[in-house]
Amino acid sequence: MDQGHVESDLVDILFTEAQIQARLQEMADQIAADYIGQDLLMVGVLRGAVMVMADLARSLPRHVEMDWMAVSSYGSGTKSSGVVRILKDLDTDISNRHVLVVDEIIDTGLTLSWLISNLASRKPASVEIATLLRKPDAAQMDVPVKYVGWDIPNEFVVGYGLDYQERYRNLRDIGTLAPHVYS
Ligand code: PRP
Repeated sequence: MDQGHVESDLVDILFTEAQIQARLQEMADQIAADYIGQDLLMVGVLRGAVMVMADLARSLPRHVEMDWMAVSSYGSGTKSSGVVRILKDLDTDISNRHVLVVDEIIDTGLTLSWLISNLASRKPASVEIATLLRKPDAAQMDVPVKYVGWDIPNEFVVGYGLDYQERYRNLRDIGTLAPHVYS
């Protein structure tokens, strides 16, 4: 397998590392203001949300707990089914906790829609969503998202946690792949 320089596979940079960090700081400022006097448990959705979680949490000037879930659609290539199974559940009892789900992208909205209703059944004090990216044109479910970095067109993007065949997650920027990658 080619182990070449990953940045050279991008044809277009949508958001640079500096832009991402600046936007996350703005989101963190808003979150800090909204949760004054309340405990906060951030729940990252593996695997793509690792970078957003790490940087968003470190942009918060307050105490925060972090936990993780891993979910998967049933079968492969059946993402649009909206049927999700839990691969790794929370280690935390979220009853009466203020929960903020952190993800890197909302595409169809099916994953987060399912996840939110699953978490709501555990009787948290509140549950909200923060996502770095959202694709309004791809939405199949209307998911109430409180914190959004950017709305983007319905294009395939990689980097900063977003993958193509499990690669490119470690890029610092977010961009679109060059055609030679697919050929
Ligand atoms: C991504 C992302 C969301 C989901 C969004 O995860 O982290 O959880 O897809 O898609 P949807 O709105 O169409 O449901 P993915 O399944 O690619 O797994 P990953 O985080 O391990 O890359």
